Amino acid sequence: MEVTTSSPVLPWKTRIAISVASFITDFTRRPNGTVNRRLLNALNVKSPTYPDPFNGFKSYDVTVDRTRNLWVRIYLPVTQDSEPAHLPVIFFFHGGGFVYMSADSRNYDAVCRRFCTKIPAVMVSVNYRLAPEYRYPAQINDGFDALKYLDENNKKDKLLPDYADMSCCFLVGDSAGGNIAHHVAVKAAGFSFQQLKVIGLVAIQPFFGGEERTESERRLVKAPIVNISRTDWMWKALLPDSDRDHEAINVSGPKAVNISSLLEFPATLVVIGGFDILQDWQRRYYEWLRSHNKQATILEYPTMVHAFYVFPELREAGYLIGEIRQFVHNQMSALSKGVPFVSM
Ligand SMILES: *[C@@H]1O[C@H](CO)[C@@H](O)[C@H](O)[C@H]1NC(C)=O
Ligand SMILES: *[C@@H]1O[C@H](CO)[C@@H](O)[C@H](O)[C@H]1NC(C)=O
Ligand SMILES: *[C@@H]1O[C@H](CO)[C@@H](O)[C@H](O)[C@H]1NC(C)=O
Ligand SMILES: *[C@@H]1O[C@H](CO)[C@@H](O)[C@H](O)[C@H]1NC(C)=O
Repeated sequence: MEVTTSSPVLPWKTRIAISVASFITDFTRRPNGTVNRRLLNALNVKSPTYPDPFNGFKSYDVTVDRTRNLWVRIYLPVTQDSEPAHLPVIFFFHGGGFVYMSADSRNYDAVCRRFCTKIPAVMVSVNYRLAPEYRYPAQINDGFDALKYLDENNKKDKLLPDYADMSCCFLVGDSAGGNIAHHVAVKAAGFSFQQLKVIGLVAIQPFFGGEERTESERRLVKAPIVNISRTDWMWKALLPDSDRDHEAINVSGPKAVNISSLLEFPATLVVIGGFDILQDWQRRYYEWLRSHNKQATILEYPTMVHAFYVFPELREAGYLIGEIRQFVHNQMSALSKGVPFVSM
């Protein structure tokens, strides 16, 4: 696909939101590799839970492990119709360079509400621990442990309603969350859960990298939200003692896990934006999946920037939800479970 303009065309509302987010990012991260967490917490606008039906959904938090403050926020769709027979369960990992945001950040809470009502699906948004306070692999362990916890305790503690179908789980994440979703998928594919089965992975503009500077990293120097100075800083926050060819970063390089033998690795949808410096790494990831005989699809939005889908005013943000809905539908049909479409 061809990009016809050299810089992205975005509405003012989006531009302002991006400028504010970029300013906060650069203002709170320090040259010595720490962040001003107190200021960040003060600036992170949070959403409450809605235990009573509100705008077509309800939400509540569940503690996974108090000792490391690991919890998930669960979203259930609510309609006038009778309860669905079964709905897919989507484990969601928010973006933010492994350093920023939380499951209750207002923008990601809004993303989960939209997914919940529009797919429709039971959403489980994981509040994994952040770098640099917690380094790799804390984020991936937290993600995987959230899956394990729900698998082991859901029935006993009635964490999710009966219609939440644990045999139809999806892992969805954007940016750093896309990286986490991938690594959790690898761990899950090698593990025997009681009921839980991961049947799809959606890596939305996943944050991958490497020592090499790719063509898109060199070309898109003016791209908003992510640039090389910022990504280099984030990788150091996550993995201070490693270069960027670590297997967690350069996922498809020679140090990567050999996923050929992971027969349970799920079908994957890789979402790419034409104004995202990370796109070359994401394409390599897609090709790497294919070369290991994994079912993978690439979805490109040539005019979109990194993190576009958190801005609901962009038409493409709406299109992407439609595509993810279709992907979920297809994976469930492949299991001949049909799809529980609820009127919207
Ligand atoms: C990093 O810099 C901040 C602010 O300048 C300081 O408070 C903090 O102690 C430093 N941390 C380390 C590990 O050097
Ligand atoms: C990345 O963006 C920041 C903030 O605009 C800027 O200070 C920095 O020079 C940029 N880095 C590169 C490599 O373009
Ligand atoms: C990083 O990945 C690229 C391919 O995507 C590869 O050429 C390079 O050798 C990798 N480095 C390591 C050490 O994995
Ligand atoms: C990966 O595993 C497959 C099957 O287990 C094997 O055939 C292949 O040679 C391995 N690839 C590498 C690079 O080790």
